[in-house]
Amino acid sequence: MERIKVCELLNKEAGIEVQVKGWVRTKRGNKNITFVALNDGSIVNNIQIVFDMNNFTEEQLKDVTTGACICVEGSLVASVGSGQKVEIHAGSLLVYGTASPDTYPLQKKGHSLEFLREIGHLRPRTNTFGCVLRIRHAMAFAIHKFFNDKGFFYLHTPLITASDAEGAGAMFQVTTLDLNNVPKSADGKVDYSNDFFGKATNLTVSGQLEGELGALALGQIYTFGPTFRAENSNTPRHLSEFWMIEPEMAFYEIKDNMDLAEEFIKYLVQYALDNCADDLKFLNDMFDKELIERLHGVVETQFVRLPYTEGVEILMKSGQKFEYPVSWGTDLQSEHERYLVEKHFKKPVILTDYPKDIKAFYMKQNDDGRTVRAMDVLFPKIGEIIGGSQREESLEKLENRIKELNMGTESLWWYIDTRRFGSAPHSGFGLGFERLLLFVTGMANIRDVIPFPRSPKNAEF
Ligand code: 4AD
Ligand code: MG
Repeated sequence: MERIKVCELLNKEAGIEVQVKGWVRTKRGNKNITFVALNDGSIVNNIQIVFDMNNFTEEQLKDVTTGACICVEGSLVASVGSGQKVEIHAGSLLVYGTASPDTYPLQKKGHSLEFLREIGHLRPRTNTFGCVLRIRHAMAFAIHKFFNDKGFFYLHTPLITASDAEGAGAMFQVTTLDLNNVPKSADGKVDYSNDFFGKATNLTVSGQLEGELGALALGQIYTFGPTFRAENSNTPRHLSEFWMIEPEMAFYEIKDNMDLAEEFIKYLVQYALDNCADDLKFLNDMFDKELIERLHGVVETQFVRLPYTEGVEILMKSGQKFEYPVSWGTDLQSEHERYLVEKHFKKPVILTDYPKDIKAFYMKQNDDGRTVRAMDVLFPKIGEIIGGSQREESLEKLENRIKELNMGTESLWWYIDTRRFGSAPHSGFGLGFERLLLFVTGMANIRDVIPFPRSPKNAEF
């Protein structure tokens, strides 16, 4: 007999023989009858399996405990009490793997998320993480679908690179040098000439710079891969390894870029509402009673579009006491971003035209000489979910900015070359995949929306 997944079983009509495999969630009953709730990860709901104790012995069922993995064959019958349309009346049982009640950590329901983080190897077996991981999959699929339907090409940018796209300086180095005996040159600096790549390299903080090379050849591309940042930010919104989606489009000005970003997020949220209803309902009921309402809200509202300068004026006049004081020229903290979104406008905000000194070198310079054509999309509960900009396409302006920032044009020669040969207006942005998932799942901590989180002092598995 062939195994049927629980997600399919629950929609079948009674009257057939079935085989099901999965992990025991609960077992209860008496000497006449035993009920087992079985989950196989295909859906948040369990299938109820009924063992008639006239046909099974206690001994046969003793290993059927919470967490054990079993295979059951039996007949699918209409259910009266299980809350589902159907249940299985067991004919045969095979125990694949036991889980001792004395040591299996997931005995009861309702473990705290903090505790589950300590048993990250087992937490995918909980309802909560099942929901989150299925939604994560659905969002990844929807991202590819969105761009594919629009004729964008998926470009694979390198994870090991010699450049620092964001200039934030928080990079993980990649080296095969012997750290106990690092070769130095005469000036006392590390000599990378004998390193694997013959130069200093790091894990990428963003695929954007290589993405621009693709956009200026293929027209419209997107990247979707892991990025790495060694900043010591122990917050519920930062990871050291996170996934980012970075579309890059030739011939897009900043307004086109904003339009695409808004359409993109709304598409993804709508996709979740349409395709992840069971999982969203579970998360809504368990963690965040306003989740589904908030998702609908985003799909239905037009995002506010506002220059940074006006945003700062609103914050300064707000009378609100912020932990970090705000004035023109300061980088906005998440408390400022959330004030604008949650208290002032009560909807998502796209903030544009930031001071050039708090943004990356590649952003298109405005005529005022002090701002750049940046855009950050700010979301309720999250703060910044997207960062992007129109790019500086003028060779002269770009080179001057790189010099101003003492970045050294040598290592970026290939990037600068795109402005030398067939330069074009172009724009792009980066969506933090886990920030999106925070919003869509309503989870409060970014470590709970990625299967194996990496954060300062935390790299188990
Ligand atoms: O604003 P960021 O740094 O922008 C870039 O990297 C650009 N190169 C993107 C582009 O224009 N192609 O990062 C983009 C997004 C942020 O808005 C945020 O959602 C997410 O990436 N992000 C993080 N997510 C989790 N943990 C971190 N440490 C993050 N840093 C940024
Ligand atoms: Mg940013």
